[in-house]
Amino acid sequence: GEARRAQLQQAQDQLARRGAVLVAHYYTDPLMQELAEISGGFIGDSLEMARFGAETEASTVVVAGVRFMGETAKILSPNKTVLMPTLAAECSLDLGCPPDEFAALRARHPDRTVVVYANTSAAVKAQADWVVTSSIAVDLVAHLHAQGEKILWAPDQHLGRYVADQTGADMLLWDGACVVHEEFKAQGIERMKAVYPEAAVLVHPESPKPVLALADRVGSTTQLLKATQDMPQQQFIVATDRGIFYKMQQANPHKTFIEAPTAGNGATCRSCAHCPWMAMNQLDALMQSLQGDQQEIRVDPELRERALVPLRRMLDFAA
Ligand code: 13P
Ligand code: SF4
Repeated sequence: GEARRAQLQQAQDQLARRGAVLVAHYYTDPLMQELAEISGGFIGDSLEMARFGAETEASTVVVAGVRFMGETAKILSPNKTVLMPTLAAECSLDLGCPPDEFAALRARHPDRTVVVYANTSAAVKAQADWVVTSSIAVDLVAHLHAQGEKILWAPDQHLGRYVADQTGADMLLWDGACVVHEEFKAQGIERMKAVYPEAAVLVHPESPKPVLALADRVGSTTQLLKATQDMPQQQFIVATDRGIFYKMQQANPHKTFIEAPTAGNGATCRSCAHCPWMAMNQLDALMQSLQGDQQEIRVDPELRERALVPLRRMLDFAA
């Protein structure tokens, strides 16, 4: 309505005054995604967000997502100011992989090539040979496997297992998980498929193996969004954060999107399929952050230099 439009306009004006461009992840509030659209910003998966942040001309980038996304932008563009609506937006994968514990594991396996998921702190990335996102994990590990390399993988165990299954690579896995994707239940999805037999099942690879086994398509957020346009089905059961329904519905106004269940009996809970940290990216927080530098991402310069190496490799590999 009217209030919504006024709020968006106000936020857009504030972005313009600060000369800032907004980069949002699909899991953020529809209002945040709409602001990115109308203000000439960008919405994407974590790889595309990194790429956009590195390439934009703007001197200030506002990252609506979780902290590792802001850090990645800063590492790739140290001369830009990187703001976030809130620096408190964490990720359970990042939290579950403390840099010192990771260093200890790495030290025990010096023969393994270290591949870390983008959902990690700068201090973990600084210890990696490669950084990957879900959109290129299978391709990169297949490439390393073909060269005879053994992998140390962190932190998402489900994505790691999926990549190992797809490539046949020897992968030692950290035991982290995403609090959102780990909750989807295969039994519930099976029941839902019985109700919607025509529906295709779309699954993000951070989901457990029994859920991945039911997928018609596995992929990053952007790859799942593309699948809704490429696949002939009119109904989709979607096992990823419900924030993505905004773009899926927008791209396919006549198709139906159903949230995959987080309980075996087919029920869903209100907050299960939504990342609590992505949810912190509200418009009022964004406007506050634009007024100062309280929510500015800073990365230690020495750490930054080391983390840049595997991040650059990721972008070059994906190019
Ligand atoms: P994507 O790389 O698919 O955007 O995933 C990021 C993420 O945090 C998924 O939970
Ligand atoms: Fe991390 Fe999961 Fe949230 Fe993505 S959805 S940011 S992986 S906790």
